[in-house]
Amino acid sequence: MSVDQKRKSSIFLTAMGHYVPDNVLDNNFFDSLNIGSDAQWIVDRVGIQERRSVLRPEEIRALRFGETTRDELIAAGRIMTFGQMGARSWELAMTRSGLKTEGLHAGAVIGGTSVPDSDIPSHACYAARDSGLKTGFAYDTNSACSTFAVQIQTLRGAFAIGSATTGAIFGAERYTTRVDYSDRKGCILFGDSSYAAYVESVPRGKCLEVVDTLVESSPEGADTIRMLDGKSFEQDGQAVQKFAILKTVSAAQAIMERNHLLIADVNWFVGHQANLRMLMSAAQRIGIDPERHLYNVAFHGNQGGAGAPVTMSQNWDRYRDGDIIVMSVVGSGLTWGSVVFRVHDKGHD
Ligand SMILES: CC(C)(COP(=O)(O)OP(=O)(O)OC[C@H]1O[C@@H](n2cnc3c(N)ncnc32)[C@H](O)[C@@H]1OP(=O)(O)O)[C@@H](O)C(=O)NCCC(=O)NCCS
Repeated sequence: MSVDQKRKSSIFLTAMGHYVPDNVLDNNFFDSLNIGSDAQWIVDRVGIQERRSVLRPEEIRALRFGETTRDELIAAGRIMTFGQMGARSWELAMTRSGLKTEGLHAGAVIGGTSVPDSDIPSHACYAARDSGLKTGFAYDTNSACSTFAVQIQTLRGAFAIGSATTGAIFGAERYTTRVDYSDRKGCILFGDSSYAAYVESVPRGKCLEVVDTLVESSPEGADTIRMLDGKSFEQDGQAVQKFAILKTVSAAQAIMERNHLLIADVNWFVGHQANLRMLMSAAQRIGIDPERHLYNVAFHGNQGGAGAPVTMSQNWDRYRDGDIIVMSVVGSGLTWGSVVFRVHDKGHD
C-alpha cells in the first residue's frame, strides 16, 4: 500500500509539546556519589554529557547516602507528578499550535509511563485533569520505551472503530527517581522528560500525519529489562544493546518497505534515546545521513518512552511540508515499534 493510499486511515498530530525539568546533572556530578564513575567513560561509551532530573542534585546525593527515600520525597511533594509534567507539555503544544484548551474536546486520552504515581487512577485522567482538557474516555497504555508508538496505534484503532474523532496523548518519564545511585552502570544513563499531543482526524495548521504504525513484542525477553515493584531499574545491558540495534534497524526498514519508502525519501529519523553510540550504529545501518538523524540523548540521557517523542517535539520548527519522519523505538518487554509521519504545513510550501 502506498503512502497516499494509507492517508485514508491516517490520524493527525495537530499539536505537540514537551517539557524537560530544570535540574541538570552533568557527568562530573556522579563523581560526588563515590561510586567510581568516570565522566570520560560515560562520554566514550554512551555519548551522554548531561541529563535533566525532576530531582535536585542534593536530593540525589541524599538518596545515595541514605539520608532520604523516594517515598519521603514524594510525601514532601518534591517529585513532579505525571499530571504536572503532562500539563507543562500540553501548554507548549497549545502555544505552538495556537489552539486553546477551553475550545477543545479529546474523545480519547491515552496516557503512558514506566514510572507511575499510582496504580489507579490512570495517568491519562491525571494529565487531562491537570491540563483542563475535556475528554470522552481516558486510559493508559504502557509498553516502556516503545509507549509512544503503542499510544499512536491505540488511537488509530479508536478512530478507526469510530469511538473517537479527537484525542490526546500524554507521556512522562521520571527514571531518575527509580535508579540505584550506588550502581555506576545504571544511574548515569537516565534523564526525565514529558510530551503531549492533540490528535484529530483531519489536518490543521502545521501537523504530523500518522501514515503507518508497526508494533511488535518478544515476551521471552521479559526479564532482560525490569523495574520490579518498589525496586530500581535493572537490565542486561550488553544483551539488550545488540537486540535494540537490530530491532531499531529492522522495524525502520520494515515500515519503510511496506510504505514503499526509500532511504532518500526519509527526511528525518528518530530512534529510542538509550545511548548515542547505539543510535549512531543503528542510523548508519539504516543508511541515514548524520544531518537527518535527530536525537537528544547527549543532553537529556535515556528518557524511557519519552525520549523519541520529546526529540520530535524539540525539532518541530525544522519540519517542512511533505517531510517524512521515521521513528523506531525499542523497550522492555521486549517490545519495539516504528511509525511513519508525514508533515503537513501549508505555511511552508
Ligand atoms: C548499559 C550500557 C550503557 C553499558 O555499557 P557496556 O559497554 O555494555 O558496559 P558494561 O556494563 O559491560 O561495563 C563495562 C565496564 O565499565 C564499567 N562502568 C560502567 N559504568 C561506568 C561508569 N559510569 N564509569 C566508569 N566505569 C563504568 C563497568 O563497571 C565495567 O567494568 P568492569 O569490566 O570492571 O566490570 C550498554 O550496555 C547499553 O546502552 N545497553 C543498551 C541499553 C538499552 O538499549 N536499553 C533499552 C531499554 S532502556
